[in-house]
Amino acid sequence: MVSQGSEMVTLTDRAAMHAWSMEQRQEGRRIGFVPTMGALHAGHLHLVKQSLAQTDRTVVSIFVNPSQFGPKEDFDRYPRVPEADREMLAQVGCHALFYPDVASVYPEGFQTTVAVEPLGSELCGRERPGHFQGVATVVTVLFNLVKPDKAFFGLKDYQQFVIIRRLVRDLGMDVVVVGVPTVREADGLAMSSRNRYLTGEDRTRAVAIHRAIGAAKTAFEAGEKGSARLEAIARRILIDAGIHRIQYLSVRSADTLMPMKMIMTDGVILTAVKVGATRLIDNVLLTGSPS
Ligand code: PAJ
Repeated sequence: MVSQGSEMVTLTDRAAMHAWSMEQRQEGRRIGFVPTMGALHAGHLHLVKQSLAQTDRTVVSIFVNPSQFGPKEDFDRYPRVPEADREMLAQVGCHALFYPDVASVYPEGFQTTVAVEPLGSELCGRERPGHFQGVATVVTVLFNLVKPDKAFFGLKDYQQFVIIRRLVRDLGMDVVVVGVPTVREADGLAMSSRNRYLTGEDRTRAVAIHRAIGAAKTAFEAGEKGSARLEAIARRILIDAGIHRIQYLSVRSADTLMPMKMIMTDGVILTAVKVGATRLIDNVLLTGSPS
């Protein structure tokens, strides 16, 4: 199941992935890994470029992971464009695409769950029960198959990044987790595979999300350290823009995601909203560095 040549190799099952990885390791090459669900955009490609710059061989996985979608979520209609994805990856110089089917990730009889709790039940986990168990489980399987030295995650999904970092520390996994700043459209909207669901008016409205949390960051930098005040600033902007379905809007510790009354060291403001039928998330770090 290996298409060879100087071009990108495509691996579709556990044995092929394992063999490729072992070969790289025997050659002393450091492996970088970017797990994705496909429908790739510039945000994903930015992670791939980071991996290419920091390691010797880069693997990208494309796997729409059923276990991280709730029964009423968009698993069936999640965008799947493998040919366009493959083309983009080959163009940026990715070395290997891991494109397994469900049975290769979850072999018959699979029973294991990895839960990072209570972190996984906070924020997005409250709205999406089981979501982060699905993420932690699939990432554990993928890490074991790919055996990366470094794995790259977007800060766009900040809670996911914190959970993976926790998981790696807790289980003593031998992989460095790298967080990569959010890539945005010119008007500030965080790039997301789900942005393609947004229709004209909703797309315009969605710009207010980054404006809202950006205003909180500006207030933070001007000296406002109170979480409730920072949240109020962002909430007002969302509501004025017609975004009323705010699932959460919360200032937390950037390290642990615990709520804090005052942000004295590193904080993060995170939000999840519904714009039309589309659920969008975003965050910015309250530290002076980009997110
Ligand atoms: P997916 O949503 O495809 O995202 C893959 C990676 O790209 C994640 O690390 C995500 O944070 C990052 N990413 C997405 N949009 C980004 C942006 N605008 N800027 C920077 N990085 C961005 O996240 C998942 O898939 C899955 O949960 C996965 C980790 C693959 C497990 O199934």
